[in-house]
Amino acid sequence: MGRQFFVGGNFKMNGSVKTIKDIISHLNSAKLDESVEVVIAPPALYLLLAREHLREGIEVAAQNVFDKPNGAFTGEISVEQLKDSNITWTLLGHSERRVILQEDDAFVASKTKTALDGGLGVILCCGESLEQREANKTIDVVTSQLKAVADKCKDWSKIVIAYEPIWAIGTGKVATTEQAQEVHAAIRDWLKKEVSSEAAEKTRILYGGSVSEKNCKELAKQPDIDGFLVGGASLKPAFVDIINANQ
Ligand code: G3P
Repeated sequence: MGRQFFVGGNFKMNGSVKTIKDIISHLNSAKLDESVEVVIAPPALYLLLAREHLREGIEVAAQNVFDKPNGAFTGEISVEQLKDSNITWTLLGHSERRVILQEDDAFVASKTKTALDGGLGVILCCGESLEQREANKTIDVVTSQLKAVADKCKDWSKIVIAYEPIWAIGTGKVATTEQAQEVHAAIRDWLKKEVSSEAAEKTRILYGGSVSEKNCKELAKQPDIDGFLVGGASLKPAFVDIINANQ
């Protein structure tokens, strides 16, 4: 049995009540490949709006969650509150939070454990900078980010990995199919060695970084690319074409 194709839409800090409703309306009326698991991640302010208006079968993800239960943590959102709102997924470890907000591997790992323990699915982001790639450190960087999580979390059945080379995010410079497949295969090898053969076989590994309706079909053909985490294109009607990349 193959891995179910998975497409996530990371809206980042974009949108308004009107534009989010327009995106939802477009997704609700679109003909989608029913074999694909689809999750959209609007800004936190619009999570309930998305959940209440989205069609059955499309899940909603937060873009982040805190690693503590409800309490005196101003500005944060807890796993309990997401579950209470029927939000079933969260992104964690996105490079924009690692770089801009200085979230380190240990914090990402702690959040991942809290989210999994609370019953959320986790889209766990990893990826290298251009400097790290040019220094041939890509695999070291990515596996080090994943190891921090593996040190805390033994059950990877509700983790989806998103490999997002930082140099491809928002730049229009998508990784080549060879570059993406090489890193995805290395991640799968790492999973087999450091987590389990089952995790290696079953864990979906998404590619993210300038995915578009023009490049998604070729990328989707790669054996270790199990889907996408889409940024800018998830805000556009072409997001449907990316979901349907295998058709
Ligand atoms: O999380 C997905 C995002 O980082 C990719 O962004 O705009 O390059 O598709 P984009």
